[in-house]
Amino acid sequence: MSKLTELYDEIAQCHDCSLAKTRLKVVPGEGREDADILFIGEAPGWHENQQGRPFVGPAGQFLDELLASIGLQRTDVYIANVIKCRPPNNRDPLPPEIEACASFLDRQLEMIVPRVIVTLGRFSMAKFFPGESISRIHGTARKRGGTLLFPMYHPAAALHQPSLRKILETDMLKIPPLLAKVADVPAAQETEEIKQLSLF
Ligand code: URA
Repeated sequence: MSKLTELYDEIAQCHDCSLAKTRLKVVPGEGREDADILFIGEAPGWHENQQGRPFVGPAGQFLDELLASIGLQRTDVYIANVIKCRPPNNRDPLPPEIEACASFLDRQLEMIVPRVIVTLGRFSMAKFFPGESISRIHGTARKRGGTLLFPMYHPAAALHQPSLRKILETDMLKIPPLLAKVADVPAAQETEEIKQLSLF
């Protein structure tokens, strides 16, 4: 059993916040265990809660289209969420829920060691850039240690606000050159400092 699979078992047993009482299934995440690109969404929605898999509803369909636009399928990447259980009525995750779930995501990042972390939406952006505005930093890469952080809008946002669709499509196309660029960078020492890359 891989370390990630062991972690999934742990997540399935978790009762560290009240979402454990209302969830149908936990949604730990899925994809390549050695993925170069890791996407982080917000929280499972109705469909994900039924199936125990991330991004399998309408937002997931759009994410699949975005991945296809750069020649990838979801099995080529890893897809996780900030929290692993569905908030009732799809409300925003609460700070104690994010806090209770944080170590699961941290451990996924440690095990997978992606080269590029793509945050989808403001909750996953806030994990790395607290206080930042997504409208200001989406589509720009910053380096942290040997990893690039790349914030994007959440695909669900484009379903409600069609003008965001083009922005998401344009930002997605920046990922392949980003990956090529980070592959050239020698594994830099981990530093707390987050430096803005002058890639775009
Ligand atoms: N939205 C998310 O943020 N995550 C999912 O898994 C599905 C929809």
